[in-house]
Amino acid sequence: MNLTDSPTMPTSREPLAFPADFVWGVSTSAQQIEGAAAVDGRGPSIWDAFCAEPGRIKDASNVDIACDHYHRSAQDVGLMRWLGVGAYRFSFSWPRVQPQGRGAWNEAGFAFYDRLIDQLLAAGITPHATLYHWDLPLALDRDIGGWLSRDCSAHFADYGAEVARRFGDRLASLATLNEPWCVATLGYETGQFAPGRTSRAQAKQVSHHLLLAHGLAMQAMRAQTHTQLGIVLNHTPPYPAEPTEADRRAARLNDGLTTRWYMDPIFLGQYPADVLEHLGADAPRIEAGDLATIRQPLDFLGINFYTRNLVSTRVPPVPAPGALGFTDMGWEIYPQALTQHLLRITREYTPPPIYITENGMANPDVLLADGRVHDVARINYLRLHLQALSQAIAQGADVRAYFYWSLLDNFEWDSGYAKRFGLFHTDYQTQQRTAKDSAHWYREFIAAHSKQSGDGS
Ligand code: FCB
Repeated sequence: MNLTDSPTMPTSREPLAFPADFVWGVSTSAQQIEGAAAVDGRGPSIWDAFCAEPGRIKDASNVDIACDHYHRSAQDVGLMRWLGVGAYRFSFSWPRVQPQGRGAWNEAGFAFYDRLIDQLLAAGITPHATLYHWDLPLALDRDIGGWLSRDCSAHFADYGAEVARRFGDRLASLATLNEPWCVATLGYETGQFAPGRTSRAQAKQVSHHLLLAHGLAMQAMRAQTHTQLGIVLNHTPPYPAEPTEADRRAARLNDGLTTRWYMDPIFLGQYPADVLEHLGADAPRIEAGDLATIRQPLDFLGINFYTRNLVSTRVPPVPAPGALGFTDMGWEIYPQALTQHLLRITREYTPPPIYITENGMANPDVLLADGRVHDVARINYLRLHLQALSQAIAQGADVRAYFYWSLLDNFEWDSGYAKRFGLFHTDYQTQQRTAKDSAHWYREFIAAHSKQSGDGS
């Protein structure tokens, strides 16, 4: 760990308006940081298997070690403590606590999370957990077809109930799924993510099983705990590239496929009619009662926001202008979409309190000989998005928490370790963590905007 003095950087002290009890946090997920893939009885996940398939991961890497967080959680909680965050969002690894995805529990796996939660609480950091951040137990995929099988939803609910029973009283919140759109679309339609299938009809059936899993798990967890329960969705608001009818329609359909396909069943108890019509024979099979199961009251809604989606019907498409630039993922930096989107969601769905569960950028960070990472672009990204967030709150969006993605550089799915999202730089040879300039900036920002400082209103 290398926590040197704050270098020169854009100021973090310009006061932005946030409620006094606003929660500042950082976010990670099990598969991306834990490593210890075959340690203490953990079973393989679909991502372990996916990494072993040639050509799937751009840098041909795997998740055997990742950030070795499994063995370094005390040190990583120390980084959070130094940052001064009040909250940490992590995910449970299903195959670590239930290697087959059904049947026997793995006590050694549960013991890891037990220790982690204790370490967080001792550091004054509230734990916010997610049940499923994409690491399906491989056995479920091989034996029953994974999320293609309706039974997977019931197994997931059993898993959720067990986690809620064991840890509910020590968690500030528990989310069912992280970004079901990514699981279904990237995992089963485009094949970019595990398990790498390529069928639109299958992807839509999977999306329905995921929503069903969410509803069943919400019911099962409610019976076990009084903690805050919810779901985390990725929202990338579409904008028509040009003011034409064709672009407007395409943007509306994109919104239907990405945002309304998940928000409507959860909050309104129905799938969007225009999307069902568009899907035709690829629409999912829905059984009687499913939509009522899916529409469970939520205590919070988690939104992951990174960029907007410029929708163009031209060939080749009109490129995004990128007036504020693009991240290392090629994602346009467009913070005003965060304000606009939060206000739209508030208007159309009257959601429960919102947590921004992820927001951040990949940057081609370089650790210099003096031990510094001058990631000015990330500081600007953070500042602009926090500004956009404070504007949304000022205009009526009920947002209670913000979690930067991510605490530290980690395994970025099919990009492997090539994309760096962390506030801390990870050296994958030595597992050394180094605070980037953005970590210093966020630390000062939190200090200036938290309850104790008395100026947080
Ligand atoms: C989100 C994922 C998260 C991370 C960021 C960059 O879609 O939830 O795991 O990969 O993107």
